[in-house]
Amino acid sequence: MTITRNDFPDGFVFGVATSSYQIEGAAREDGRGPSIWDTFCREPGRIRDASNGDVACDHYHRWPGDLDLIRGLGADAYRFSVAWPRIQPDGKGRVNSAGLDFYERLVDGMLERGLEPHATLYHWDLPQALQDAGGWVSRDTAFHFAEYAHVVAGRLGDRVVSYATLNEPWCSSILSYQIGEHAPGLRDRRLALAAAHHLLLGHGEAVAAMRGLVREAGLGIVLNLQPAYPASDRGEDVAAARLADGTFNRWFLDPLLRAEYPEDIWEAYGADVPEVQPGDLARIAQPTDFLGVNYYSRSVNGASGNVRPAGSSYTQMGWEVYPQGLTDLLVRLKGDYPDLPPLFITENGAAYPDEPSGDRVHDPERVRYFQAHLEAVARAARQGVDVRGYFAWSLMDNFEWAYGYTRRFGLVYVDYETQARVLKDSARWYRALLTGQPSDV
Ligand code: NOJ
Repeated sequence: MTITRNDFPDGFVFGVATSSYQIEGAAREDGRGPSIWDTFCREPGRIRDASNGDVACDHYHRWPGDLDLIRGLGADAYRFSVAWPRIQPDGKGRVNSAGLDFYERLVDGMLERGLEPHATLYHWDLPQALQDAGGWVSRDTAFHFAEYAHVVAGRLGDRVVSYATLNEPWCSSILSYQIGEHAPGLRDRRLALAAAHHLLLGHGEAVAAMRGLVREAGLGIVLNLQPAYPASDRGEDVAAARLADGTFNRWFLDPLLRAEYPEDIWEAYGADVPEVQPGDLARIAQPTDFLGVNYYSRSVNGASGNVRPAGSSYTQMGWEVYPQGLTDLLVRLKGDYPDLPPLFITENGAAYPDEPSGDRVHDPERVRYFQAHLEAVARAARQGVDVRGYFAWSLMDNFEWAYGYTRRFGLVYVDYETQARVLKDSARWYRALLTGQPSDV
């Protein structure tokens, strides 16, 4: 049985997603300041293929064609991100109106094509000047972020349907300041937890700053959530899964949706916990209009480390394909958080080593991945979860952070030599789902 739009609630929005540093290129044009990713990419050994986002998909120049592509897929919506260093090259103060002009053209271009604009304000490209002052470890960054959010919402206003403050704060704190895999590449848990707290505070401050400016647009945040399963029902495996869930999911969900940090993890972190000032948690937990969920896989936890279940299939990232995890996650969110706002799946997708053959790119695993995960979303909706949209990651192949261009997540294949875009079979399949036309895959 193939899935159709009728399997989803009325008004359910289908889209595709990207982010600024991963696709735009034009790193030095029209007054854009340097970001931490420009710096990080130049440090030897950080990026697998020693590449960077200087050109990427050249979307900064090719955006009209890219919006046409999105429209051609029959999508309702496009999730993109705004590059802070285009708007404020120094991260604070002076506003570069050429940067705002670009996103204004982009948003108007979406509206002309009947696409809903869904903006993300921070998809990891922090202005380097703010990193020089401590980055997210500095509490001031939260307030600079709110100022930036106010500037963007002041210009784009209600033309944007939703504003997500942050994309995946786990990545911009833990992965970046503790694990060292993302910019700025530090390895210090205490700094990472301070960064995480200031990111969450920045979210709260930004929501407060934007509330008065936009009436129609929804405000929210995007989290990467990964349900954690125990490898067996032995007590120590169950405890390992609980710990993984706590550090990865609850550390962000609980402050946002319950105004508290999870007690068990707070204790486990000992002296590394962040300084929380009076009023911070109320600020962080102020009501929002949606929660964006990025879902790729689950974790299976044993007392002596993570387990890779035999018999499962894995993407090129090494991530297990586990669609039921998405249903479980959505149902669990509804059960555990009484104040949960409506949900959007803001990212879901898979990397595979795609090769063009003639004018086609056959990516049957990705088609199966999308199909199974969309079915998982539909199941959750049938179980009463208020989920309102789904954005495939990604519109097109792009700069996959520490993996450079060695991983392709696109529905659309990008030939980086020529910048040609070629619809993969997964794009054709998605188009058939969205338009109701028969699939030619
Ligand atoms: C999550 C991130 O938001 C996005 O930037 C990244 O490319 C995808 N996951 C795939 O790893």
